[in-house]
Amino acid sequence: MNDIELIKLAIKAKENAYVPYSKFKVGAALITEDGSVYTGCNIENASYSPTICAERTAIAKAISEGHRKIIKIAIVGDSKYTYPCGVCRQVIREFGKDSQVIIANSEEDFKKYNLAELLPNSFGPEDLIKEVKDDV
Ligand code: THU
Repeated sequence: MNDIELIKLAIKAKENAYVPYSKFKVGAALITEDGSVYTGCNIENASYSPTICAERTAIAKAISEGHRKIIKIAIVGDSKYTYPCGVCRQVIREFGKDSQVIIANSEEDFKKYNLAELLPNSFGPEDLIKEVKDDV
């Protein structure tokens, strides 16, 4: 699956966005370590805060099917370049410390980042492994 194919899937997933409140559609498509592909869209809620972003919908689908590593995720939204929100950056971090993030305006016009560029000095699972510190 190349970048253009992945972007096409994100564009397609965006069509299913449920956005009666913001009217702002987002689609995402990701590739896992073994090459599996999952897509997602944003799903809003009348109570607002239960809203889930497109990226986290796709990630939840992948993780619930047993995957644990994300290699790449493409995101397409209603703004020219829709960057992942802070919460989604942290959730991508959990399963894709070294992942690539594609922010696409279209299948011909996109930008590519390493997750670490979008979330520098991040906190992740490794930080919870306690080490004995010399000076305490
Ligand atoms: N949204 C996403 O789906 N992904 C992001 O990273 C940014 C925001 C959605 C959430 C909400 O449904 C709409 O865009 C407006 O914030």
